[in-house]
Amino acid sequence: METPNLEMETLKQLLKQQEKLASLGLLSAGIAHEIQNPLNFVINFSKMSYKLLKDLYEVLEENKDKIGEADREEIDDIVADLRENMNKIVEHGERAINTIQGILLISRGKEGELIPSDICAIVKEYVRLAYHAMRAKHKNFNISIHEDYQLNIPQLMIVPQDFSRAILNIMNNACYSVWEKSQIVNSESYSPTIEISVKYDGQSITVAIKDNGMGMSEEVKKHIYENFFTTKPIGEGTGLGMAITHDIIVNRLHGEIQIDSKVGEYACFTLIIPAKLK
Ligand SMILES: Nc1ncnc2c1ncn2[C@@H]1O[C@H](COP(=O)(O)OP(=O)(O)OP(=O)(O)O)[C@@H](O)[C@H]1O
Ligand SMILES: [Mg+2]
Repeated sequence: METPNLEMETLKQLLKQQEKLASLGLLSAGIAHEIQNPLNFVINFSKMSYKLLKDLYEVLEENKDKIGEADREEIDDIVADLRENMNKIVEHGERAINTIQGILLISRGKEGELIPSDICAIVKEYVRLAYHAMRAKHKNFNISIHEDYQLNIPQLMIVPQDFSRAILNIMNNACYSVWEKSQIVNSESYSPTIEISVKYDGQSITVAIKDNGMGMSEEVKKHIYENFFTTKPIGEGTGLGMAITHDIIVNRLHGEIQIDSKVGEYACFTLIIPAKLK
């Protein structure tokens, strides 16, 4: 049995952690709120510019006989690029807004709305997102991604922002781990790989994400869901990713997370979520 002093110490530490988390929550809600407005401006002005571009193109069409063929082709190319760029600004801006709204909902203690969602499409999208974020950070580094999605999985009732955040957290960790390993092992003998699979057995959905990176010790596995537990250098990790993922998968979706890992060889995270059909 613990001595009263030790218990007191544990309680004090817990309290300190809760305080830290509460102030972090307030801070992120404040930031989220402040970012929302300028982001809305970005999205709305991009939508407006898209319309203006359409008007401009109509004027060009009306005057096409006054412009030489080569110039016309160039203008067409530029207009097509501008259109695509503006679509991208809107698309990514809206994604950022969704994330921010998720943060605001969490910090207000509300849960997002359950909507029928295509699990494979979400996993696919967030695997891409993590991959491209990693590529943007480490330009000369590449990962082979192997994906295996079972066909015809019915739509499940989930909060898509929550579920996608869980996938992104696990994927970010996997990308970081294979990158970290690539920095310390012989590059010729190491091929960074992440395998993703999504399966459905009529009762639950199983998402597995396996990387052949650094792997985890028993000690790391023991603490992985604790708030602020990180083995990454300052500035690389806050140690909240898996705590949030645990909250989403276990507390909100009533599922479980299984971890299988061998130090220096691999880490595999398997999410098993009971299927709630629409
Ligand atoms: N795929 C993985 N391979 C090896 N270690 C991992 C993996 N995923 C998580 N870990 C370990 O678990 C720790 C906690 O992960 P978690 O995602 O909670 O925090 P983080 O990645 O350090 O920071 P962040 O808050 O930015 O996610 C990591 O620091 C790392 O030591
Ligand atoms: Mg993480």
